Amino acid sequence: MPHKLIAGNWKMNGLKGAGRELARDLAARARSAAPDCDLLVCPPAQLLIPVGEALADSPVQLGAQDCHAEASGAHTGDIGAPMLADAGCSHVIVGHSERRSDHGESDAQVRAKAAAAAAAGLVPIVCLGETEAERAAGRALAVIESQLRGSLPERGPVGGGTGPAAAGPVVAYEPVWAIGTGKTATAGDIAEAHGHIRGLLREILGRSAGDSVRILYGGSVKPDNAAEILAVEDVDGALVGGASLKADDFWAIGASCP
Ligand code: 13P
Repeated sequence: MPHKLIAGNWKMNGLKGAGRELARDLAARARSAAPDCDLLVCPPAQLLIPVGEALADSPVQLGAQDCHAEASGAHTGDIGAPMLADAGCSHVIVGHSERRSDHGESDAQVRAKAAAAAAAGLVPIVCLGETEAERAAGRALAVIESQLRGSLPERGPVGGGTGPAAAGPVVAYEPVWAIGTGKTATAGDIAEAHGHIRGLLREILGRSAGDSVRILYGGSVKPDNAAEILAVEDVDGALVGGASLKADDFWAIGASCP
């Protein structure tokens, strides 16, 4: 397994000045002391170009938070995966629970977006996770399974050629009840969920491709819990929301990689 991936999802936060400043800060740190993990920041769409410029010549990669399932066309307000690649992105988050709930995105739509990302040479970060009610009803693993089967692009590894997408998709397990709440799943719950996802990935993609997919944990990852979470088996990185908006915190999470 390559380095762990620490991805920052800035969500709908950041004006030009602050976004550029945060990116410059991270890029300067990463240039002077290469971290023992892969770092990725996913700013809102209007910041992709200035943040990408601030990250130039640094190991910090650029990602987006969503893409349309089609490459271009009459889709007002949307953005196509080739546009994101053109803006310098290597990754794009698809199927985040906030998109699933705010925009009613279905597994089938998420899968189409992931396929569009891969076709544009981007690595899709496919998000899934159960709600609090689903966990309370004992359905967490069943929900994760049906979201994974429905959202993952059909054949793996996705993409072709030598671009970043050739490595296949990334999966992010983010229990909805842990997002932005300060609650995190226990190490045991995370191990169970990630182990289940790993088994399914092997079944769907084949053993070797399934083993090479990075599975990120997301949901209130902070500097003070990152080391414990990142040490859990089959946790190949983190998808960080709130704490990714502070350079010190995001950097500290990266430094927690074993
Ligand atoms: P928080 O880290 O703010 O809980 O957000 C997690 C998340 O949704 C990342 O995609």
